[in-house]
Amino acid sequence: MTSSSPLVPIKTPRDLRSLKKKWGNPSGLVPTMGALHEGHIQLIRHAASTAEEVIVSIFVNPTQFADNEDLKSYPRNLARDIEMAQLAGATQIFVPTVKDLYPNGFSTYVVPCGPLVERWEGKSRPHFFRGVCTVVFKLFQIIQPTFAIFGQKDFQQLQVVRQMVSDLDLQVEIHAMPTVREEDGLAMSSRNTYLDAKERKVAPLLFQTLQQAITIIQNDPKQNLEVLSQTLTRQLNLVPQIKIDYLGFVDAESLQPVSQFNGNVCLMVAAFVGKTRLIDNLLIQTK
Ligand code: PAJ
Repeated sequence: MTSSSPLVPIKTPRDLRSLKKKWGNPSGLVPTMGALHEGHIQLIRHAASTAEEVIVSIFVNPTQFADNEDLKSYPRNLARDIEMAQLAGATQIFVPTVKDLYPNGFSTYVVPCGPLVERWEGKSRPHFFRGVCTVVFKLFQIIQPTFAIFGQKDFQQLQVVRQMVSDLDLQVEIHAMPTVREEDGLAMSSRNTYLDAKERKVAPLLFQTLQQAITIIQNDPKQNLEVLSQTLTRQLNLVPQIKIDYLGFVDAESLQPVSQFNGNVCLMVAAFVGKTRLIDNLLIQTK
């Protein structure tokens, strides 16, 4: 195949399995829900720089959405996604249907539990990590990649997937890539397209506040981080379009709240900007 011939997406796990036998090694998987942006593209480029075969999965996974969330309105543009993924170095695109991954009678889920999922996204969206782990586990089983790449933008998701791989002895390496941002600092997200002009204007305040926290901690590392998180939450909630869901300093490994800076802290935030729920985080580390 020449590089200019458009990739034909693989639609079923069965087709994927038969193709897999002819694949080169190593293989890298980039799981996505589509509506690709530069954040996804960096993940694909990284995979292409390391692997002979780069599989991008595009699947808006219904089990990670609650009934009142945006499953129906989630942006979808398959033709554009395929083109972008191919340009970035994808060699295979896997686009299963809901029926393919969740056939009638489907009833076995991968349900993470314990401290890693008790707070933050796990608390605000109790269905979420069960859906993510189930679909990621299935993708690993079907594709059996050498490695899979996840973004630090979804920091808790990355840690939960790492934990699942370790707990279930899955034979896949997990690679992490830094968050890709717009010029004004807003973390790229498929959901940013929901923002109206006014919301888009205030959304970078989330990242600016994370950066502000770093400066404050650098100036006073003994700072009480619980008090600081309350101050920053109040400050952001003063913006009429912004409503903080959570904002917390956590140990970057365990994701448990910390009140003192310990050299490896992550500040995690989730907020509604208008009706759109956005998340972001920043690692605060000393070398
Ligand atoms: P999705 O939101 O499409 O993200 C796919 C991958 O891209 C995730 O690993 C995510 O962390 C990464 N990503 C998103 N925005 C990014 C950014 N601005 N910079 C760097 N990486 C970014 O996350 C999911 O889909 C789903 O939960 C999925 C893992 C595919 C399971 O359904």
